[in-house]
Amino acid sequence: MKGTYDFGLVGLGVMGRNFILNVADKGYSAYGNDLDSEKVDALIKEGGNTDKVNATTDAKTFVDALSTPRKIMLLVPAGKIVDAVIEGLLPLLDKDDIIIDGGNSFFTDTDRREAELAEKGIHFFGAGVSGGAKGARLGPSIMPGGNKSAYQHVKPIFEAVAAKYKGEPCVAYLGPKSAGNYVKMVHNGIEYGLMQLTSEIYDLLKKGGDFSNEELHQTYKTWNEGRLQSFLVQITSEIFAKKDDMGDGHLVDKILDKAKQKGTGKWTSQNAMDLGIPVPSIDIAVSMREISALKEERIQADKLYDRPSVLPFEKLPLETLAEEALYFSFIITYAQGLHQLSDASKEYGYDLDIAEIAKIWRAGCIIRAGLLADISEAFKTDTYLPNLLLAPTFVEKVQSTVNAARTLVSYAAKNGIPVPGLSNSLTYFDAYTSSRLPLNLIQAQRDYFGSHTYERLDRDGVFHTEWET
Ligand code: 6PG
Repeated sequence: MKGTYDFGLVGLGVMGRNFILNVADKGYSAYGNDLDSEKVDALIKEGGNTDKVNATTDAKTFVDALSTPRKIMLLVPAGKIVDAVIEGLLPLLDKDDIIIDGGNSFFTDTDRREAELAEKGIHFFGAGVSGGAKGARLGPSIMPGGNKSAYQHVKPIFEAVAAKYKGEPCVAYLGPKSAGNYVKMVHNGIEYGLMQLTSEIYDLLKKGGDFSNEELHQTYKTWNEGRLQSFLVQITSEIFAKKDDMGDGHLVDKILDKAKQKGTGKWTSQNAMDLGIPVPSIDIAVSMREISALKEERIQADKLYDRPSVLPFEKLPLETLAEEALYFSFIITYAQGLHQLSDASKEYGYDLDIAEIAKIWRAGCIIRAGLLADISEAFKTDTYLPNLLLAPTFVEKVQSTVNAARTLVSYAAKNGIPVPGLSNSLTYFDAYTSSRLPLNLIQAQRDYFGSHTYERLDRDGVFHTEWET
């Protein structure tokens, strides 16, 4: 049986429900499906009583309600549930129907699913969706990858529901197979890096400059009106203003300092290692979440060791330096993530357009920032740009802010304030911009103990030396 609904969505949690309501707002009819009848009822209540939104717990009723080729999005937790949902839908589908996984699935799972479903004549898309529950309702950034011609059926709906940046939708076909999930994974890796940096700067302002929450609120708010304009800086400013409704003071001070993670940042780091691409600002952000989890051990260790008492920094220069250092390290983090994307594109045959990716990150997603417009321009000007640090338009931005990072990293080291994101960003910059590194010695050591050979600066060829005299 063929129905009339334009779009189907499985998984009516907050994200799914909001996404459906967004689709309906844009004039498309949408049908939801969830095993949980309470979620089905909630959607019908919120969006129902119109012919645009409906929902059911029954998979057959759901599939039959959709027009062909069916466009079915899954917004369910990544992992086995995705496979289980696909298995349930498969017998009910027709050739050329389209399944879109909107979750944070691991990219090799997407490759497997895409290949298995292609054999059955079903098109499978991995489409990262960023922006949280509010983004899903009002306009997310969407990162789809899969079969290009099948994407044409999904395109008008995605372009209608996506966030808009100066009228341009924050969605684009990114490439074949798992390109969409891969790009979303690296988006999240960058997200981890930016969050870590934002929190380190907060620590420096608080410990070094004795900033109150009101001052922190005001500082991040002012920064968000300048070149640091970004979603994460904006919400950080709002967080410092929030009072605790369960007690005195501000909520931020009552929150346990253990950061959880669902895995996408770790996957970015792991895969960067596999590709041989350095992303230390992202690696350390993952490690810091892991260190944060060791709260009980940290409390014990804190008692065992003395740390220097923090020498105060003058408030105003600290604020200026913090702004510059944050801007510097944000650029470095984007540079690393985009470097990873360029390399992954070649390795996995995604044929990614980095300028286009930066464009669809300008609004809707968690890492949206004013900077992304400049980043997109840089990659548009030079499509083969290996690293953002090599873009002529970025040299001045980085050159004029790197010294602030140097000052703050050395101040933090002297005063026992951990700023590993900032320091890794600085070290990455110093290493990437060094024409000569001391790794000649590592080559000599390798050759010494294992005859692994080395190359020379002054002549071609591969050499081995008997080092022991
Ligand atoms: C987004 C976010 C989202 C992610 C959360 C939490 O783009 O909307 O990246 O996909 O799930 O930010 O991630 P962690 O639990 O790993 O911090």
